[in-house]
Amino acid sequence: MAFNIAIDGPAGAGKSTIARLVAKELSYIYVDTGAMYRAMALYFLRAGIAAGDEEKITAACERITVSLSNEGGEQQVFLNGENVNGLIRTEEVGKMTSAVSVYAPVREKLTQLQRELACTTDLIMDGRDIGTCVLPDAQVKIYLTASVETRGRRRFLELQEKGINCSLEEICEDIEKRDFRDMTREISPLKQAKDAILVDSSEMTIDQVVAKILEIVRDAE
Ligand code: DC
Repeated sequence: MAFNIAIDGPAGAGKSTIARLVAKELSYIYVDTGAMYRAMALYFLRAGIAAGDEEKITAACERITVSLSNEGGEQQVFLNGENVNGLIRTEEVGKMTSAVSVYAPVREKLTQLQRELACTTDLIMDGRDIGTCVLPDAQVKIYLTASVETRGRRRFLELQEKGINCSLEEICEDIEKRDFRDMTREISPLKQAKDAILVDSSEMTIDQVVAKILEIVRDAE
């Protein structure tokens, strides 16, 4: 049976950075499920479908295929065969993703693919509903979080490094809105699974979080 590590948590908690490093250390595949939702959101944006138009989104789901490949340890995400890795990290796509990931047809499509991957492969998968819904039997479950201030500051510095002008206050407001939507949606809301271990990274360095998670994995093996 494959060994699965599930990492859930709010936006900006550092899930992808940490999961990527842990995967490298363990020689596991890293699956970033947010990227899959982002690819679907990109399709809706390009098609001019509004986030609130559930009927059109449901119909469009039939026309979308999302697939993944792993190149040199880096996940590549494909939307109907097109590599969209470089197009899905914008604020516009992020907001659309949070808005459309509330719909059942969007979630069902991706949940099925995620389960298929986890069945046959040792992996570390991050998202919002991995420990609670996608992989309820994962051998290790982590709920990785940090304060809104810490997450906002990290995002602010990231954008500044890219030369993007932004206000820390607005970023924190956006994070709070995203948290609220992800945590209160009807289907698969973000919450800590009962058997998940809470890791609060507010006062921790990346290395400390990675070491902590590796310790949890070793205890579970
Ligand atoms: O992790 P991220 O910022 O790339 O995720 C973008 C959005 O996708 C997030 O706001 C909620 C949604 N998402 C989800 O609903 N379920 C997942 N397993 C992963 C992401």
